[in-house]
Amino acid sequence: PAVRLFGLSGSLRRNSYCRSVLEALQAILPPDVRLALHEPRLPLYSEDEDGEASPHEVRRFRASIAASDGVVIVTPEYNHSLPGALKNALDWASRPLGAAALTGKPVVVISVSPAFTGGVRAQSHLHDVLLAIRARIVAGPQIVIGNIAAKISDGRFVDESSLCFALETIGALLKDVGRGAPAAAAASS
Ligand code: FNR
Repeated sequence: PAVRLFGLSGSLRRNSYCRSVLEALQAILPPDVRLALHEPRLPLYSEDEDGEASPHEVRRFRASIAASDGVVIVTPEYNHSLPGALKNALDWASRPLGAAALTGKPVVVISVSPAFTGGVRAQSHLHDVLLAIRARIVAGPQIVIGNIAAKISDGRFVDESSLCFALETIGALLKDVGRGAPAAAAASS
């Protein structure tokens, strides 16, 4: 594909709303934009295990991010912050210092919640973490999806307006990496 996006869910839950949002985005992106889905299922970060002999799933995780043109993170909010599993995965992706897979990578952030607040506090903490890693947070309006349970039907995320909203910022990312915005695909879905 012309563009490879690394889609990262902040949740490990089997029927995760975050994954439903990523799958819905997958379905409406143009065919030459590949959004691969990943979970933050990695061992707990330890500097002792980092380096030459880092765990193979960590090396794969880092390599996939490095090979991507950009990252789309969809996260829930756990206790007013980002889930530990996601923070852990981002810690792995933040090293080696100066040559980390996420450093300089354009990232689009989306937060979701069954509550009307839509995970805004998780999103703001995630923003701080991405700044520390020196990822390039794609500028745009905050993409916050509240009341998400009402926007799921048969396990599928079906809220067109949230998807179009998210697609605008993903369009900015695609433009950033030299690919036109996916407006046509959004309209035809
Ligand atoms: C939550 N949830 C939650 N929701 C929220 O809006 N603010 C919060 O602070 C929290 N805190 C929280 C802590 C813990 C430990 C859990 C398990 C859950 C609810 C959360 O938004 C809900 O479980 C989502 O469905 C999780 O996203 P996935 O797994 O569906 O993608």
